[in-house]
Amino acid sequence: MAVIETRGLTKRYGSVTALEGLDITIEEGITGLVGANGAGKSTLIKILLGLLTATQGSARVLGHDVRADGSAIRTLVGYLPEHDCLPPDVRAIDFVVHMGQMSGLPPTTARERAADVLRHVGLAEERYRLMGGYSTGMKQRAKLAQALVHDPRLVLLDEPTNGLDPASRDDMLHLVQRIGQDFGIPVLVTSHLLGELERVSDHIVVLDGGRLLRAQATQSFTGDTGVLLVEVLGDGSAQQRMGEALAGRGLPCRPRGQQIEIDLHQVSAAETVRDTVRDLACDIEVGLVRIQAEHGRIEDVFREGVSNVPAP
Ligand SMILES: Nc1ncnc2c1ncn2[C@@H]1O[C@H](COP(=O)(O)OP(=O)(O)O)[C@@H](O)[C@H]1O
Ligand SMILES: [Mg+2]
Repeated sequence: MAVIETRGLTKRYGSVTALEGLDITIEEGITGLVGANGAGKSTLIKILLGLLTATQGSARVLGHDVRADGSAIRTLVGYLPEHDCLPPDVRAIDFVVHMGQMSGLPPTTARERAADVLRHVGLAEERYRLMGGYSTGMKQRAKLAQALVHDPRLVLLDEPTNGLDPASRDDMLHLVQRIGQDFGIPVLVTSHLLGELERVSDHIVVLDGGRLLRAQATQSFTGDTGVLLVEVLGDGSAQQRMGEALAGRGLPCRPRGQQIEIDLHQVSAAETVRDTVRDLACDIEVGLVRIQAEHGRIEDVFREGVSNVPAP
């Protein structure tokens, strides 16, 4: 059974279309939901929680219909909202205990679980402080703790790294990874920073203007693109001589900045190309800086544009 499944999901706010005919299937593991601000990520998450009603289409979360079973879904799912939701004059421990009880835990269990999850997110020392005095990083951790307190079967994290400095961002991504890998809880995590979730996600779903742009295993975004990049020592004339020598051997190449790109898709014996490059460099006495396979990035999906969406 898919963890999340949407069919023709559409959401309009008046004349604004936030989601348009979205068909996505999310399985176990960590899924990164990426898209620029306004792409529809938060709208999708709120529909999945039954907090917003879709204009058209349907969605199921852990087998439950979002229209009929919103409250059942919310007891099974942990949610880290995008915006600040923490009461400033409450201590983290009291807040997380309260949220645990709201999700149906008995008081004693809620206290034990709250202490555990606060330690897990790195707020063991600070749990008795009022959250109003917390840094942004500490607030995001407290939000994560309340999402985990009731031992959810799925967590939805809406921009957990928003507003964090690079070090805190890495810490948060590491926590996200642990939820998915160490605890085996499926995670759907969003970010407007397109490249950020590549290293923690098993799958990436890309939204653009409320539409699905891509949904793929992370590896197929970041894998080999079939282009070899060659960089030589010296000025443009060395690059040009190398380019001419490669072309002389029938290799489809063209300059890209300081480098030369060779399109291996058009080469029959692609595995011999690296050797050919080395030999040619030696023959024409040009120093090689590097030969490397190009890897894709999620940003490239946006550059390629909507025209490249594979047919469903
Ligand atoms: N309550 C609302 N009323 C009207 N428009 C909204 C509302 N919430 C979101 N939108 C619009 O819907 C689109 C998607 O927003 P949102 O889901 O917040 O995107 P994201 O989380 O990817 O930034 C945006 O154009 C946004 O302005
Ligand atoms: Mg959002």
